[in-house]
Amino acid sequence: MLGPRLKALASQVPIGAKIADIGTDHGLIPVYLAKNKLAAKIIATDISKGSLQKAVDLVKEENLDHIIETRLGSGLQVIEPEEVDTIIVAGMGGMLITSILEEGRRVLKSISRLILQPMSGSDLLRQWLVKENFAIDHELLVKEGRHIYEIIVASHGSQEVIDNIQYEIGFKLIENKDPLFKEFINGKIEKTKDIIKELEKENTKNAKEYMKEFLLKYKKYEEAYRWFVGLEK
Ligand SMILES: C[S@@+](CC[C@H](N)C(=O)[O-])C[C@H]1O[C@@H](n2cnc3c(N)ncnc32)[C@H](O)[C@@H]1O
Repeated sequence: MLGPRLKALASQVPIGAKIADIGTDHGLIPVYLAKNKLAAKIIATDISKGSLQKAVDLVKEENLDHIIETRLGSGLQVIEPEEVDTIIVAGMGGMLITSILEEGRRVLKSISRLILQPMSGSDLLRQWLVKENFAIDHELLVKEGRHIYEIIVASHGSQEVIDNIQYEIGFKLIENKDPLFKEFINGKIEKTKDIIKELEKENTKNAKEYMKEFLLKYKKYEEAYRWFVGLEK
């Protein structure tokens, strides 16, 4: 049984996709896709022998070793161009996901969907995607425990950026009226307030510069919140 985060990730896989789950760890998504006959080809990879072994064991236990292929190695280095059309990279920092994509350019050419779930640095990941001519097709928030996770679905294409704050608050969450958006943006507002309070205590040039940046962010987050509330009416 998948938890809400993994279930939401699996729900973004197009039926019949040829998929690679990069950094699979437990192998839960590949097993779910195979058991429900949702994908035409499934490759589960991990850089860590110990992590991949968990997936190998689960695949064997579920008698799915004729359907799911497991591969040991870093990022997209273990995938050949044209081998898959969909890639999941989830549960890692945004910088790591970005470097996996960057180093896997030769594979990305033939990919029609990226399903990404950064644990942090989602703004850096979105910036990279837009710079590399990926469009953000869909975004959703998922709550598991106390944490809200961001899922980003992208494909080749150009992305209009109206305001840089979209790299942080997402391109689709407001228009999709994501049910967790208010909680998500409130979390950012509270964090920014705390940072501003700390910066007020310092009297350096750097602190003043940061202060400007965070006051602007705070204003944009509040605007996004009000915009969302307006759409709800
Ligand atoms: C926190 S787990 C996330 C597992 C799963 N994707 C999820 O979302 O639940 C991160 C996994 O990524 C793997 N990993 C880290 N860097 C990697 C890389 N460059 N290539 C492939 N796997 C990597 C780790 O070994 C670990 O198993």
